[in-house]
Amino acid sequence: MDLFRENWGQNKSWMPDMPAVKSPESNICRCRTTYVGTRPKVRYLKSEAMKGETILMTGATSGIGRAAFIALADMHPNIVILARNETKAKDTMREVREMTGNSNLDMIACDLASLDTVRRAAAAFVASYDRLDVLANNAGIISGKRTQTADGFESIFAVNHLSHFVLTNLLLDKLKASVPSRVVVTSSYSQFRGHMDFDDLMAEGSFRSWAAYGQSKLANALFTFELARRLAGSGVTVNCFHPGAVRTNIGSGMGRAATLAYSVASRFLISPERGAETLVYLASSPEVEGITGKYFFEKQATESSPESMDQIEAQRLWEVSGRLTAKWLDPIN
Ligand SMILES: NC(=O)c1ccc[n+]([C@@H]2O[C@H](COP(=O)([O-])OP(=O)(O)OC[C@H]3O[C@@H](n4cnc5c(N)ncnc54)[C@H](OP(=O)(O)O)[C@@H]3O)[C@@H](O)[C@H]2O)c1
Repeated sequence: MDLFRENWGQNKSWMPDMPAVKSPESNICRCRTTYVGTRPKVRYLKSEAMKGETILMTGATSGIGRAAFIALADMHPNIVILARNETKAKDTMREVREMTGNSNLDMIACDLASLDTVRRAAAAFVASYDRLDVLANNAGIISGKRTQTADGFESIFAVNHLSHFVLTNLLLDKLKASVPSRVVVTSSYSQFRGHMDFDDLMAEGSFRSWAAYGQSKLANALFTFELARRLAGSGVTVNCFHPGAVRTNIGSGMGRAATLAYSVASRFLISPERGAETLVYLASSPEVEGITGKYFFEKQATESSPESMDQIEAQRLWEVSGRLTAKWLDPIN
């Protein structure tokens, strides 16, 4: 705890997702938040700003994604969530419907740890929806132990990067047919501590949780900037962001000591509603119309990590990701 206070006071951070600079207060884009103690009390404002648009989100059943789901639903677009737990997804949709009055909510089953299900989910979306105005690649994990997906990839890299690489590529035609459209990627300040280890992308040699997580969040940023370059002039914009250090379930896959440290520190973390502000802003605000290839924090475009700006590395990641996932990438008819 002392370490936390000390580092916070010195503008340093011991938490990989905590930016070095303490962030100023800011307002939620589409909803008003007041704080009762440390618990946010959110009142959603009625608006139909996104009526007729279609949003596809991952990671909408918890934390930042759930808060963004509520705030976006309040603007009355159609929202489709990809979720691995059907019961949790249905409960979340019912709550969001009750809170916002938006009944145009749908779910498609998808475990991002299985590229077969990612492909099936993309195909189901393409078959059912005419347009895709916003794709929010938000889901993410960290785990204390190295695990592999059924496809044979290290789980953090697979869920945080490869699944979204495949999903986005399979939905590109839909995005292009819906211009102006947007891709929003939840990266992290952890990218500054990440490094792409192309000799051991799957951490088979040695595994450290935060290094694997940092690499995956750096991959999110490299992917964002490379996709933005590839889509330049197309009308599809691509941006990523750091949500802040947010009180969510992300630490639940870590060991017991880390979970305890996280729960002690959690009262210093921001609420999911505040953490979702930049996602909601990038998905909905006219202010970012046409802006692409940027990294945002607190609704401001800001400097991304030096490694994320390396175009050769971004191309290399794109090619390697394409090779690793080639059998799932055939265009959907
Ligand atoms: N919290 C922070 O301080 C922080 C800081 C920087 C960046 N981020 C990023 O923010 C994003 C959201 O994380 P969070 O903090 O809101 O964590 P969270 O509360 O744990 O939410 C993660 C979401 O991802 C979903 N998910 C995880 N694995 C999945 C899988 N295999 N298939 C389908 N969905 C899966 C979860 O589904 P279930 O509900 O089924 O578990 C949940 O909806 C992540 O990309 C994370 O890296 C978080």
